[in-house]
Amino acid sequence: MAFVTWRDWLETRDLNGNGLDASRIGLGTWAIGGWMWGGTDEKESIHTIQSAPDRGVTLIDTAPVYGFGRSEEIVGKAVEQGGMRDQVVLATKCALEWDDDGNVRRNASKKRLLKEADDSRRRLRSDTIDLLQVHWPDPQVDIRETAEAMAELKSAGKIRAVGVSNFTPAQMDAFQEIVAIDVAQNPYNLFEREIDNDVLPWARDNNTRLLAYGALCRGLLSGRMHADREFPGDDLRNSDPKFQQPRFGQYLAAVDALEAFAQEHYGKHVLDLAIRWLLDQYDHAFALWGARTPDQLDAVANVPGWHLDDDARAEIEAIVNRHVTDPVGPEFMAPPAREG
Ligand SMILES: NC(=O)c1ccc[n+]([C@@H]2O[C@H](COP(=O)([O-])OP(=O)(O)OC[C@H]3O[C@@H](n4cnc5c(N)ncnc54)[C@H](OP(=O)(O)O)[C@@H]3O)[C@@H](O)[C@H]2O)c1
Repeated sequence: MAFVTWRDWLETRDLNGNGLDASRIGLGTWAIGGWMWGGTDEKESIHTIQSAPDRGVTLIDTAPVYGFGRSEEIVGKAVEQGGMRDQVVLATKCALEWDDDGNVRRNASKKRLLKEADDSRRRLRSDTIDLLQVHWPDPQVDIRETAEAMAELKSAGKIRAVGVSNFTPAQMDAFQEIVAIDVAQNPYNLFEREIDNDVLPWARDNNTRLLAYGALCRGLLSGRMHADREFPGDDLRNSDPKFQQPRFGQYLAAVDALEAFAQEHYGKHVLDLAIRWLLDQYDHAFALWGARTPDQLDAVANVPGWHLDDDARAEIEAIVNRHVTDPVGPEFMAPPAREG
């Protein structure tokens, strides 16, 4: 009898309705780019990426803006040197531009997107991008122009699936008049549930996959965060309103209570619970989990093989509401538009 490991039963789903299967846990590589995460260690990053397939993690999400090309370059190098291109689904993004001073602006013009796709293919060392996502909607560009560029890239075989990120349902409806959206990428985790009433029902109605970003709420839900933690350099948690006292203390108290709940009912930890909760919210959801060292992915093994029922979900919600009396969303991350 063949020996079956947890790796063999990490859930997968089809990303484009056409056989593009990916694991429901994706490795997020924003921190690997260094920018807004206090720098990066290339060797550790490469180890982390190369450890992913052995854990059953076959989805890797990156973006040109993560380190201004650095994250994509590290992903491309790790995948090529690891000989793992046929084992992973590469997802990247487009539609943000930056200048030499690191100022980031939205730009979803057709010209920009066509150029960016080629730049990303070069950095990722891959002729084809499995999933390209428009990173943020651009109020300066007609949404149909952006959608037309994505349709053109798909017809040319440069990308296999079309995604949008941080779009509202109305923006996605307009986009879909030109080309179908395979994937919506939005913030979603136990502490950031803004999409419950708009994007999530829209995704269900449209049979669209959801790539949920910030699955650990930037480490808050890892169970390893503490009030004295210092964040070096440009780490975005220095300006993240969730990480400022007294609110920070409320979130940490919720994490402690969730940890106790996870241990008592499932023999699991809060991180395991956070990812399981997310995947159980929607059958076509994927959880993007940012990691920059291989050991940060060890807990992937604790996610498959169990589920949360309605009572458990209600209790989890009650715990969060009891402790977090002054909640705040992820809006601080939105990049500015260009001036009109
Ligand atoms: N489309 C968008 O606009 C958008 C926006 C944000 C993110 N994303 C995507 O979503 C991905 C995930 O989001 P995220 O990286 O922002 O945040 P996240 O997944 O919520 O948190 C990642 C951070 O949590 C900590 N962590 C992870 N595993 C841990 C473990 N086992 N133990 C302790 N700490 C652990 C690490 O921070 P430390 O190493 O510092 O402790 C890690 O960098 C990104 O990488 C990116 O691909 C997309």
